Amino acid sequence: MATLRTDPEQSRRAPNLRSVVVGTGSSLPERVVTNAALAEQMDTSDEWIVQRTGIRQRHIAAADETTSVLGMRAAQSALDDAGLTADDIDLVICATSTPDHTFPATATQIQAALGIHQGAAFDLQAVCAGFVFAVTTADKFLTTGAARRALIVGAETFSRLVDWEDRTTCVLFGDGAGAIVLEAQAAEEGRGVLSTSLRSDGRHREKLYVDGGPGSTGTTGHLRMEGRDVFRFAVGQVTDVIVDAFAQAGMTAEDLDWFVPHQANRRIIEASADKIGIARDKIVLTVDRHGNTSAASIPLALDVARRDGRIKPGDLVMIEAIGGGFSWGAALIRW
Ligand code: ACO
Repeated sequence: MATLRTDPEQSRRAPNLRSVVVGTGSSLPERVVTNAALAEQMDTSDEWIVQRTGIRQRHIAAADETTSVLGMRAAQSALDDAGLTADDIDLVICATSTPDHTFPATATQIQAALGIHQGAAFDLQAVCAGFVFAVTTADKFLTTGAARRALIVGAETFSRLVDWEDRTTCVLFGDGAGAIVLEAQAAEEGRGVLSTSLRSDGRHREKLYVDGGPGSTGTTGHLRMEGRDVFRFAVGQVTDVIVDAFAQAGMTAEDLDWFVPHQANRRIIEASADKIGIARDKIVLTVDRHGNTSAASIPLALDVARRDGRIKPGDLVMIEAIGGGFSWGAALIRW
């Protein structure tokens, strides 16, 4: 397992494989900031935030809780949950839009902190859809035999990217990290990633973006969003990837046990579920406690629902997200 295998002959020889979730983990900053606490600093209210978004509180990182630190803690917890060690992992992907540094990749910092010295590690940037894109990418490595076990991390510190003078955006976001371990197993077992569907349409850049970067302003910049347009697009368009993921697997919303969407906004989540015919009691909702943690929100929610006993082996789970770009995607997983 010393190097990541990319030899095409190797891939062609790979047996019929599926990427199976064998562990989950998460990490949240200690500091919790309620809506009431925000209302003491700016012109907002608990009522406005809860009614529009469902958010009641969010975790905000301390200075020493960087994206890689949160990501490393979540990844270690996922490894422990899987009963695996650093030597077992040959691929690390970190989905993030808030890396500790422009480079090297946060994934390499997580890799080093965990003592993983083989395989490859890289970051993946698809904003809030980053975790779904990372699962899809890892699935390609694992099912071709190019890697055996992947650690997939979603880690963010959006509190450092929002404009704290802009009440229309800063109240929506929080910090945190989640992780899963995916392992290549024989497809005959029936478990694992059954289908994935990704989309991007860069014409929507102005709706949700950061107004800085190393290649433009030389500064980090701040998050900017046309909230109403994002809302309309998320509910109106994004369900196409869910429909596609179900169709590829020959399944419907009725077969689903758990819907674990990106946790941006309770109204978006419920409207999307209603449109697809997913019953409300199948939705895993954590946006009330975590706020929008971008690429971290799905693995955080997966970890919550698995540890509280909702998600069990054999359950059918749909993950789905939309983020800046726009980029959006869904994956159907037999747990
Ligand atoms: N507190 C109190 N009032 C506020 C706040 C606030 N934090 N923010 C805005 N307002 C005011 C506005 O100034 C406006 O006042 P006005 O009528 O006097 O002009 C009023 O509330 C309504 O503003 P809208 O922007 O029209 O509010 P809307 O009902 O559209 O809700 C929201 C805004 C919550 C952002 C909504 O558009 C939304 O949820 N959009 C989707 C955003 C999202 O989820 N983005 C993330 C998804 S993608 C990703 O995760 C990166």
